[in-house]
Parts: sequence; structure tokens; C-alpha cells
Amino acid sequence: MPKRCLYFNFTYAMKFEDEINRRRTFAIISHPDAGKTTLTEKLLLFGGAIQVAGAVKSNKIKKTATSDFMEIEKQRGISVATSVMGFEYRDLKINILDTPGHKDFAEDTYRTLTAVDSVIVVIDVAKGVEEQTEKLVEVCRMRNTPIIVFINKLDREGKDSFDLLDEVESKLGIHVCPLSWPIGMGQRFKGVYNMYEKKLVLFRPHGKQEEEDKVEINDLASPELEQYITARQAAELREEVHTIESVYPHFTRESYLKGAISPVFFGSAVNNFGVKELLDCFVEIAPTPLPRQTEERVVDPYEAQFSGFVFKIHANMDPKHRDRIAFLRICSGKFERNTNYLHVRQNRTMKFSNPTTFMAEKKEVIDEAFPGDVVGLYDSGNFVIGDAVTSGESLHFKGIPSFSPEMFRYVNNTDPLKQKQLQKGVDQLMDEGVAQLFTKESTGRKIIGTVGALQFDVIQYRLKHEYGASAQFEPVNIYKACWVRSKNESAFQEFLQRRKNDIAKDKHGNWVFLAPSAWMLQMAQENHPEVEFHFTNEL
Ligand code: G4P
Repeated sequence: MPKRCLYFNFTYAMKFEDEINRRRTFAIISHPDAGKTTLTEKLLLFGGAIQVAGAVKSNKIKKTATSDFMEIEKQRGISVATSVMGFEYRDLKINILDTPGHKDFAEDTYRTLTAVDSVIVVIDVAKGVEEQTEKLVEVCRMRNTPIIVFINKLDREGKDSFDLLDEVESKLGIHVCPLSWPIGMGQRFKGVYNMYEKKLVLFRPHGKQEEEDKVEINDLASPELEQYITARQAAELREEVHTIESVYPHFTRESYLKGAISPVFFGSAVNNFGVKELLDCFVEIAPTPLPRQTEERVVDPYEAQFSGFVFKIHANMDPKHRDRIAFLRICSGKFERNTNYLHVRQNRTMKFSNPTTFMAEKKEVIDEAFPGDVVGLYDSGNFVIGDAVTSGESLHFKGIPSFSPEMFRYVNNTDPLKQKQLQKGVDQLMDEGVAQLFTKESTGRKIIGTVGALQFDVIQYRLKHEYGASAQFEPVNIYKACWVRSKNESAFQEFLQRRKNDIAKDKHGNWVFLAPSAWMLQMAQENHPEVEFHFTNEL
């Protein structure tokens, strides 16, 4: 090989590696109202990605919106705009993947979690650990995703900090390690002592923090502390920090990266307090793009060959153009515009002329992207969630879960002339992951299963407005959908035969048992020990 060419390859490889090393892709998760949107916005302000507060709209669908479909449409618009928010900070490229707040859209969030390398969990100091947070952290724990905890709203009265840490550990099943510690709260909130940087950070409301509000205090025993806070507060802080140091594990980046301990920060997002400390620590410790597991092998981000998977699809944002946007997480190699790639499931070559990134309300066509990045691909119906796109290798990414729905309805066509439209609409909405479709073996009737009731309204509305189809839902008595399989073929056939009225197939042709009640499910499990019952189906 000529010398120049070698040199070129070497510098190219270095640049490629540097690009991967400078990426941090994460999600902020919380129960609605804990402050996820506010924190996201403050992080974007630090990154200079937005100039004014209020630019990031909350994507939560308010409770009152159940019958307000325009609101749902508006939220879908916001949600696509804020799907991935990228910004530069200290030479790093940070990608925040947005997750819907409403619990009826939790499945969307679960799938987004497959596309990140770490998460920040926001907890309201007064409310403590709430239900939605518990469920989301459980998914992170299953994957050993590194977690940082941000306890928010310290400007308000809340739970005792030690009690709160106990609650976080017991309800979320994680081990914590405080890296900052609050001095008072509510009216008496004075600031935090940052143990990671050994700095006292004094609180001023409304984000008016100045550099002199940050004082380096390497030794808490030093009387200098009393210059900034009262003697009583200083004594309390010394005692509490001493307790922390003796009770909680010492922070190491390795144990955080393994998901074994979670650093905790305290602050107030709306006052922009504690947010910079959180971000500065995050960029130092958060993982670079991690390898991904496929059925065939582990894909390393530094491989030259490109690969990625679709974790989210947004359809018909503009009813005049039947366009959909598939969100692709890049897992290895460099993605380039107008280059031929393999759509693995369809076994055909595709190229993308307008790969897009989204930023608050702006979108931009990009020429290249690297592992850790997410690109939006315009699509006319080729993608479903979980699809792999590669330079040519047949890869199937694992771990993109399809959760057991909790609500079920028969879907009936009310306009015989629009049967085709209904079929197409239902198929496409299912590809998008809005809900799951089951076809009963005995009758061929179609059943839609969702995680929340709101989805039925969304589906009915979107079928009408986007496909011109008219559907009605009819109640059906199903308690749970379980994916079933067995290594023993004859035992499995017997089970299918015995339970034939409750057997269906999902969209991919997998067998599903639609248990009418908890008792019937238990009976089926007891009577058919050779059959495995799964409550999630990894695509
Ligand atoms: P979410 O995305 O997690 O659902 O929460 P979001 O950021 O929308 O915040 C929920 C509410 O909590 C908002 O008030 C927000 O201003 C407030 N909030 C966020 N951080 C803090 C904090 O550190 N301290 C206090 N006291 N409040 C905080 P809202 O009244 O619902 O909305 P808005 O009218 O203020 O926008």
C-alpha cells in the first residue's frame, strides 16, 4: 500500500474513533411532573442548542386530553420534534433521546431505552419514587444501564434526604452513592456540597448562579465553611457527609458503568441549580456508545462496517404526504447519505437521500452520522420497529421488547367499502408500535391490545383522519396476552388444541395465549408445565 494511503487510513481511523468517543447518548426518565422537561431544557441551554427557556415543549399529554384529539396531534408533532436533541458541550456530542411522559405510551419509552447508553432519573423531592419511575428503572436494571439520579425541586419542602435515598434503593432496587448533598431545603435551602468536586455551591433562586457562589472547600472541618452557612448548618453538613462516607459505597466509574451503583445529585431544575454540576459529572463518567447484542454476534461500535436498528416510527406527520419517519440508532461504522445499505428483514438494498436530525423545532439533513447518533429516515412503509440496516451483513438486534398489553378490544369495520383502508391503517399503526394486533385462530377476528386506554382513542382518530377508515371497538374478555412456546412439540399441540378458543397469532405469526382471567392463566400454567409463558416478546 502506498505510504500516503496508509497515512490517510490511519488518520481516517483516528477521526472515526474520536467521533465515537465524543458521543454520549442518554435519556432522561421520570414520572410525569418530576421535572424532566425542565431539566432537558436547562441542559440544552448549557449546550447552546436553544437560546431561551420555554423552547422545549413538554410532550406530556395532559389527563384532560383523553377526548381532545387536536391536543394529541399537537403532542405528536412536539414529540417528533423533540425525539432526539443533540448538542455540543465541552467538545462532546450529547444526544438526549426524549421519552413520552404519559403512562399509556410507556411502550414507546421502553423501546427508546434500547437506543441509549445511559439514563438520568429525575425524582421529585416531595413525591419520592413514583410508579412510572419504578417501571422504567426496572427496564434499565434488566439491561444494567448506568443510572444517575437527580433529586429535583430542593427549593420546596420534601422528604428527608436519607429517607429518600432509602426509598430510592428499596423501590428502584439500585445502590446509590450521593455525589452531592443538600444543605436544608424549601425556604431553608442554602445549596449543596458537591463531594465529587469538593465544592460548596450556594443557592440563588432563578438561575442567577455566579462563579463566586461556588467555593472550593477541600476539608469540611475547615472553619471557612462557617463563612458561608450558619454554624448549625455547617455542623449538620459535617455530620451528614461523615455518615454518607461511612454508609454508602465509594464512587468508582467502573461500578457505575456496570450498573452496580448510581451516583445521586440534588438540585432544582427550574432554578437552574445543580444542573451544571450534574452535566459536568455526566460528561466525565457517562459511557461512550456501547456494543449491541444481535442474534448473530456482539456488534462493536468501532467496527468499520455500518449497522443500526429502528427503535421508533412516527407516521403521517403531514397527512398530505404519507411519510413516516423511522428513527435509527447507529450501532457501528459510519452512516452516510446516499449510500447503499441492506434492509435486513426485506433483504433489499436501500439508500437514504434525506437522513434527518431533529433539534427542538428545527430539523436538518445530515451527510454522515456515527455510532451513538440517531437519524430520522423518511420511509414509505418499509420499516417496522426492530428492523436492522447494515452495510451488507445479516444482523438481527436483540432486546427490543414488545410488552404484554393490558387492554384489549375487538376491532370491527363499520364501513364495508373501506375494508382495505382499515386493514392498511391497522397494519401501519401496528408497525409504528402504537399497539399490538392479535388474530384469533378459531374465528380469524382481530383484537387490538394496548398498554393504556388512551391508545384506542388515538387509533380510532388516526384511522379516520389518516386512512379514511371507520372502526369500532368491542369489549373482549382478556386478562393478559402471553407468548407461548415449548420444546415439546406434542405437548404444545395439545395445549393449542385444548385452549383453541383463547389462542391467537401476533403480527409476526408467533403463538399467543389470550388468558381470560388470572385464574385461567394460572390453571393453564399448572396443567401445561411443558409450555413456556412469556409476558414480553423480544422482537
Ligand atoms: P415533566 O417533564 O417531568 O412532566 O415535568 P416538567 O419539567 O414539565 O415540570 C413539572 C412542573 O414542575 C412544572 O411546573 C415545572 O416548572 C416544575 N418544576 C420543575 N423543576 C422544578 C424545581 O426545581 N422546583 C420547583 N419548585 N418546580 C419545578 P408547572 O406549574 O406544571 O408548569 P409551568 O407552568 O411552570 O411550566
